[in-house]
Amino acid sequence: MNASTSQQAALIGGIYSNHLALEAALSDISSRNIGSIYCLGDLGAFGPHPDRIYPLLKDHSVKTLAGNYDDSLARNLPDCQCGYTDPRDNHFARLSYQYTYRNTSEENRSWLRTLPEEIRFELAGRKVLLCHGSPRRQNEFLWDSTTPDHFLEKFCDDYQADVIAVTHTGIKWKRRLPSGRLFVNVGVLGRPENDGSPQVWYTVLRGMKDRVTSEFVPVNYDAERLALEMREEELPEEFAETIESGWWTTCLEILPEKERRAGRY
Ligand SMILES: [Fe+2]
Repeated sequence: MNASTSQQAALIGGIYSNHLALEAALSDISSRNIGSIYCLGDLGAFGPHPDRIYPLLKDHSVKTLAGNYDDSLARNLPDCQCGYTDPRDNHFARLSYQYTYRNTSEENRSWLRTLPEEIRFELAGRKVLLCHGSPRRQNEFLWDSTTPDHFLEKFCDDYQADVIAVTHTGIKWKRRLPSGRLFVNVGVLGRPENDGSPQVWYTVLRGMKDRVTSEFVPVNYDAERLALEMREEELPEEFAETIESGWWTTCLEILPEKERRAGRY
């Protein structure tokens, strides 16, 4: 590994069974000569053919941690631990989880049991902590509009990190804290982020001198083909519509007011 590749890391968030977006992202990461790839969890959910994700991660040596969905599948739990209370959101979450559970092999569920809850490494001498929701809770939603600086600074203190990266909410954001430390929600590959565009996102971390920066990278892939596969698998039409339109049609109750106003529904 040369100096340029050793100072970069690609971070991919929730995949939600979107094997086509994962393939496109891995190809893009390879073309950038980034040697270290990390996945921040939630491999299944929402999309078709969950077992197609696993060989892609293994073939590209993606270091993977467990999200709430992975934990549920690994431990044979009855639901995805997303914590919906709205009956409509709960209905769709249940359909999604049951489909994913039925179509994830026992071998892959066993592999999920081996995943850590966090991954740590150093970039340009800075301590990087990767986790799924937050450092303290796998299924905690951290939103840009509702998470104050001091809250994130305390995570950096308590968990001894200069950079914290998460996923889980489905919408990317980042903040340089007053202390100079960095918080990043890396976004997700699994579904578009409620902005009317079908593209999805991953994140590149770069270490330069003693500073770490981040860049959000758009991923364009064959969303129509994924939507077709979802319909063939008889997944809810609402899910396929989101993949094609870029607007969320379900899971809306988790959005704070500001993030919800940015969407169509
Ligand atoms: Fe999650």
